[in-house]
Amino acid sequence: MSYQQEYKHSIESPEKFWAEKAADLAWFKPPSSILSTDENGMAQWFADGEMNTCYMALDHHVKNGRGDQLALIYDSPVTELKSRFTYQELRDNVATFAGVLKQYGVDKGDTVIVYMPMISEAIIAMLAVARLGAVHSVVFGGFSAHELAVRIDDVQPKLVVTASCGVEINRIIEYKPMVDEAIVLAKHKPQHVILLQRQQCIASMQAVRDIDWQDALFSARPADCVAVKATDPLYVLYTSGTTGKPKGVVRDNGGHAVALKYSMSAVYNLKPGDVFWAASDVGWVVGHSYVVYAPLLHGCTTIVYEGKPVRTPDAGAFWRVVEEYNVKAIFAAPTAFRAIRKEDPEAKLLANYNIDCLETIFMAGERLDPPTYEWTFKKTGKPVVDHWWQTETGWAICANLMGIEALPVKAGSATKPVPGFNIQVLDPYGKPLPANTQGAIVLKLPLPPSCLATIWGNFDRFSDGYLTEFPGYYSSGDGGYIDEDGYLFIMGRTDDVISVAGHRLSTGEMEEILAAHNAVAECTVIGVYDSIKGQVPVGFALLKDGADISAAALQTELVAMVRKEIGALACLKQVIVVPRLPKTRSGKILRKVLRQIADNEEFTVPSTIDDPASVAEIKDIMRSSGLVKE
Ligand code: COA
Ligand code: AMP
Repeated sequence: MSYQQEYKHSIESPEKFWAEKAADLAWFKPPSSILSTDENGMAQWFADGEMNTCYMALDHHVKNGRGDQLALIYDSPVTELKSRFTYQELRDNVATFAGVLKQYGVDKGDTVIVYMPMISEAIIAMLAVARLGAVHSVVFGGFSAHELAVRIDDVQPKLVVTASCGVEINRIIEYKPMVDEAIVLAKHKPQHVILLQRQQCIASMQAVRDIDWQDALFSARPADCVAVKATDPLYVLYTSGTTGKPKGVVRDNGGHAVALKYSMSAVYNLKPGDVFWAASDVGWVVGHSYVVYAPLLHGCTTIVYEGKPVRTPDAGAFWRVVEEYNVKAIFAAPTAFRAIRKEDPEAKLLANYNIDCLETIFMAGERLDPPTYEWTFKKTGKPVVDHWWQTETGWAICANLMGIEALPVKAGSATKPVPGFNIQVLDPYGKPLPANTQGAIVLKLPLPPSCLATIWGNFDRFSDGYLTEFPGYYSSGDGGYIDEDGYLFIMGRTDDVISVAGHRLSTGEMEEILAAHNAVAECTVIGVYDSIKGQVPVGFALLKDGADISAAALQTELVAMVRKEIGALACLKQVIVVPRLPKTRSGKILRKVLRQIADNEEFTVPSTIDDPASVAEIKDIMRSSGLVKE
């Protein structure tokens, strides 16, 4: 089937299309209802189907002769450890850990927070929660105690599952003090903390509340899969919005499994038995979908990589993993390849490895800039596929579908809509825009399987944030255009969300933190271009009258506050003290103009500006502080 035929079928006959895809999975009770609406009027998929995602991902394969095939490979250059699990071994480990969770009271529908580094046990914990029909909420290990506490209060977990530490380059990150602090900060108190002691650092344990993972295994009896409805939640994953309160994206079981299984063949062109490597972290949506669920649902081997693209030990790390495990497709953020290019511009290290097994390189998480695309394509000689997606969808919205029909590549474009997604570009009044005209990128409702239907515990927030701007459409928050051939170009966010090294962060949240400093009268944070990380945040602060602090001291304190409140991954390193900020007459800070000045882009000062001289003034300050490079 051609791309056009496949896409047309999905849009014209969505129920038929998705019923066919659902038939590829091992349901306890196959769905007869394919598309219906929930109590909020949102699409719900496969409403009367019964299933268990862990069963589909593990037990089904063991029953069907895949028990001895490798399911998971753990490779950790930072600890120099490696291990492997067959499907049978992974199923048994997951069933036993599910028994531990059950013993400590986890039941169908309960929530469990998983705060772990990139180790096999993180995946075991997620699948064990799913096995019990419970709901996991994985928190990225780079987030601070404060961020963890916010998530604990929102998702109200019965338990927290964690490890004693994460291992970064030349640095051990102790997790337990952060978990302890988060539980002190949070109003909701989880009943237990189950902790895996890693040999790099032994955490101290609190009597009664804290449970040692290994000790608990001794008394646990393996637990069976619990049947859930397709529409029951599998997980809640928090993502950044425009404020300090992250949004809990709710993923269902059925739509998620069907979309992800389909994506493995349609988007990634993988067959059961192939090795797939998503070089991401389970704390992000890419990790959920493509380290854990999709490869296992499809019967592939997945790789859990605890390392970086560079410095673990060098810029040949990716090529080493590809060769060592016979990886057929790799998926990473463009920032990873920019980091490799910076350290090994001629890709000399590639000559040490044979990567013939690799068929395609996929990238997402931020715009794949044409120079990074060209470099990766030229140096590897492999097709490089940019695809666009969001935590909210859980899988690609727009891609070059390698398993359907590989279309000609246009650098800078994520190619064409994935079957199921009806992408439109609208002007601010909701009118469709002609080809090559930039506007708001929206998705026509109903959304296909796997997409969120609400924000955890707060449908109004979902409706206000995504559905009200353009009635009948989901607002993606991204801007861009579709060209004359139907190719989509994503040009950036239209809100306060930035992507730092492929990590989605909120400048609004950083502003709230800076504003809390007692010397700061007013502030703003913008994302500026960074040659490796894509974007990094930069703050601007106005001092309160009479504030007695030097600019350098204030910067040090504000940088430390953001690091403490969000985590090191926020990468806010510069805060510039300014006498005033350019604003509109109604008092709106001209953030876009600030960003354009910093990025040396052309800009238009809006006619509503309060004082045009403020723009020239800030430009001078940004130049003298080294932010604007001529
Ligand atoms: N736990 C604790 N701290 C973490 C962490 C984690 N899981 N991940 C990152 N951090 C810390 C780092 O140690 C660093 O701290 P520092 O400021 O004290 O050095 C800080 O957060 C910033 O980390 P990072 O953005 O990863 O910068 P880096 O310089 O260490 O590495 C790259 C740069 C480009 C190599 C790295 O960001 C990378 O591999 N990016 C790809 C990310 C990715 O795949 N994202 C995918 C989502 S699809
Ligand atoms: P996340 O929810 O963390 O996956 O981040 C989603 C956001 O990352 C999107 O809304 C985009 O702004 C950006 N993004 C993801 N993939 C791409 C891509 N291929 N091209 C451009 N931007 C992307």
